[in-house]
Amino acid sequence: MVERISLKSREEREKLLKEAYFNVFMIPAEAVFVDLLTDSGTGAMSDRQWAALMTGDESYAYAKSWFNFYESVKSIMGMEYVLPAHQGRAAENILFSHFSKKGVIIPSNNHFDTTRANIEFFGGTAIDLVIKEGEDPHKIHPFKGNIDLNKLEDLFKKEAKNIPICMCTITNNTGGGQPVSLENIKMTGELCHRYGIKFFIDACRFAENCYFIKKREKEQENRSIEEIAKEVFSYADGATMSAKKDGIANIGGFIALRDKDLYDQLSESLILKEGFLTYGGLAGRDLEAIAVGLKEAITMDYLESRVGQIENFGEMLRQNGVSILEPVGGHAVYLDAAEIFPHIKRSEFPAQSLSAALYEEGGVRGVEIGSVMFGREDENGNFIPATMELVRLAVPRRVYTESHLRYVADVASEIVKNKNKYKGYRIVYESPFLRHFTVRFAPV
Ligand SMILES: Cc1ncc(COP(=O)(O)O)c(C=O)c1O
Repeated sequence: MVERISLKSREEREKLLKEAYFNVFMIPAEAVFVDLLTDSGTGAMSDRQWAALMTGDESYAYAKSWFNFYESVKSIMGMEYVLPAHQGRAAENILFSHFSKKGVIIPSNNHFDTTRANIEFFGGTAIDLVIKEGEDPHKIHPFKGNIDLNKLEDLFKKEAKNIPICMCTITNNTGGGQPVSLENIKMTGELCHRYGIKFFIDACRFAENCYFIKKREKEQENRSIEEIAKEVFSYADGATMSAKKDGIANIGGFIALRDKDLYDQLSESLILKEGFLTYGGLAGRDLEAIAVGLKEAITMDYLESRVGQIENFGEMLRQNGVSILEPVGGHAVYLDAAEIFPHIKRSEFPAQSLSAALYEEGGVRGVEIGSVMFGREDENGNFIPATMELVRLAVPRRVYTESHLRYVADVASEIVKNKNKYKGYRIVYESPFLRHFTVRFAPV
């Protein structure tokens, strides 16, 4: 599929930005020239996916498409029980309606925003325990998404009875799309099980993570992505997944489980919120597209080109003097807004300012992953910034060419050269959960 894109004039972009209260989520997609807001659901489906989609069986229960979907998930993750959902956060909502409540603690390397919000919505506390290298945008480490096992064990020693489940996000989106090593996944699983805690993987980008394991971890280079994925999931009791990422589908998600009892317990909630056990909020054709997409995502030629494109994009930005989180992750390049805009106070959201600047300067849309998304106030109303101030430029799968990305790198370079003209923002409206989607700003 090829789509027409067009670049609005600077005056039009300035007007649109103002009308959107400087929140780029609110800008019409047609007015975006290169859209790197997310890699979620924005990939181009393959000929094989479109062909499968046409064979979708829309029967209500146990449709042919369900069996194709189930076979695909089971063959990759090795888990017996699968609950489809319309996207990742719906799967999380069902999982945490069961596990999260007041007094419960749920650790992870870094929870993604929707994961954290679902845990907190049901009253639990979400804790991030990524290794310290994962909190420094410029520290080089092959697996910056790893969980700090010492911190995790300390937490278990004190609080095990309040921890029903531990998560691990692969790759670690909030921390820069950084991979988690097979060894770390194995040790986290073993540690959880020693303390009687369930271990779940947020598997949105499992294929990209397995690619990094193959490339960076000793003794894994001769194994196939499929073999590595099997081992990754063998240490877990279950997984949630948004199929909009490494399912290369436009919509979809699921929970995969080993435990029949847990499957039965979650089934009621699935039927109530999403739909029957075998479609969970999806059409048969969506299930078909995911079934094929998951298989395509674990092929080496696809992964070489996917991760290679992100690496090249990072290199273009680096050469243009734009500060980025290093090493680049699997699905996005993250700009280090705190370093690019050192003159903007953290409480005035330098990453929001950079994200607005990208649209204003070049019609480019990225997403703030900084203090708008993860900043907090303490009980006295003092501002607590996020660990890092990043703008994520997520690359949709199989959509943009090198020249689109070079254009983005040039826009970023112009911004860096003129950085002093950009100012901070203050929030004029926010909602209590996931505020970044609908927040409104005014320039300071
Ligand atoms: C790591 C991670 N977990 C969960 C989700 C939620 O998935 P969805 O957008 O399908 O609800 C996302 C989406 O971006 C994600 O990146």
